[in-house]
Amino acid sequence: MGKKVQSAFFCQSCGTQSPKWLGKCPSCNEWNTFVEEVINKEESAKSWNSKKERANKPSLISAINFSDEKRLLTPDNELNRVLGGGIVPGSLILLGGDPGIGKSTLLLQLALQMQMKKMLYVSGEESERQIKMRADRIKENSENCFILCETSTQNIFQQIEQLQPQVLIVDSIQTLHTALIDSTPGSVSQIRACTGELLKFAKETETTVFLIGHITKDGSLAGPKILEHMVDTVLQFEGDRNHVYRILRTIKNRFGSASELGVYQMGQDGLRQVSNPSEILISERDEPTSGVAISATIEGVRPLLIEIQSLVSSAVYGTPQRSATGYDGKRLNMLLAVLEKKCGFRLGAKDVFLNITGGIKIDDTANDLSIICSVLSSDQDIPLDMGICFAAEIGLSGELRAVNRMEERILEAEKLGYKQIIISKHSKISKKDFRISIKQCRKIEEVFALFF
Ligand code: TYD
Ligand code: MG
Repeated sequence: MGKKVQSAFFCQSCGTQSPKWLGKCPSCNEWNTFVEEVINKEESAKSWNSKKERANKPSLISAINFSDEKRLLTPDNELNRVLGGGIVPGSLILLGGDPGIGKSTLLLQLALQMQMKKMLYVSGEESERQIKMRADRIKENSENCFILCETSTQNIFQQIEQLQPQVLIVDSIQTLHTALIDSTPGSVSQIRACTGELLKFAKETETTVFLIGHITKDGSLAGPKILEHMVDTVLQFEGDRNHVYRILRTIKNRFGSASELGVYQMGQDGLRQVSNPSEILISERDEPTSGVAISATIEGVRPLLIEIQSLVSSAVYGTPQRSATGYDGKRLNMLLAVLEKKCGFRLGAKDVFLNITGGIKIDDTANDLSIICSVLSSDQDIPLDMGICFAAEIGLSGELRAVNRMEERILEAEKLGYKQIIISKHSKISKKDFRISIKQCRKIEEVFALFF
């Protein structure tokens, strides 16, 4: 046959293509990432064949029909919120996460729950029997959910043309391969080509496509970085495998905010939505313990009450340790410096450990005050009253600064039964009739005088 085999080198980190091997990638500057992959353009192989062969014409923006009403609401409210208010038809959504975290479960559950739409779940990872067993475990049944175990995109598109599903789920993008390219499934060029075909399919048919993606050891999505650029939305499913709680987080979203959070609980029969996450993020305590402070924070659009725990102890070894889990270590150092300089607490020779319970990561500056209070509570061994929570940013001179959306924070604290919230004097609250008592302070010394 004498067919010439073509190959090229691909950076495994960012997907850059080069005709020859390079030690250092010119685009992402990583070393030793180039791997040879066989590319073979076989014109006869049929991929998603575009109905529109002619080139697009420019259209007047005012003439483009578009209605925001078209979003598809799923029965899963957490997913709806994370996606920015439901599924946008024709969007390509990538779901990443550690192995075993529950990605397949989440999307199979979605496929089973959306009974009014024709769903196609394509799996290259599990057999039909395994998927059926999982579906039985979830205890959902649907007359509109189809399963296809297939890894070739050409075969998948052939089935899609007959079935015409409204939502397509692919588990996982790393197992797919297209006949247009000859390298192995999971390689950079395969992932890129398969995603490209699915993208074209999604946009032309207005079908929503969910892709499950594996992640590497350091937590980034496996495959080329451009994968994240190609899709409309990137979601990450995280949590501790030993923990029952799972957090669905938006990393990127072309159709909504990128700082949303959905919380699930993994049970014996699948994932359950946790509609009031504040309850799980605050550990059960019968009596006040030192080192614990509650913060009224905001993640995405949702106010949350979270528990901050600190442990301050004399340093056993020469240099004191500073360790923060779920929080930025640099900001912790800054807050400790303010405590030392402005309030005269000698923390320089002590170990400080900070932990945000529930395994979540926070970066809202309104947590500053509760972090400081939890550190001092541990240092002085004085527990804070369980009915108190905090929401204020700390400035470098020890002043309490106002934070955004104060009323929502106050309402959430009130709803959960807190008796008092400590906020900045500068926070403006227009509504005055809260049941919770609001204490406004100007400086951290005023707060300390109240409790320590
Ligand atoms: P899975 O969805 O296979 O994870 P991923 O696709 O991200 O690799 O999740 C598998 C884990 O979830 C496995 O450890 C079993 C557990 N699980 C439950 O605890 N309850 C259930 O109802 C199901 C279906 C799975
Ligand atoms: Mg899986």
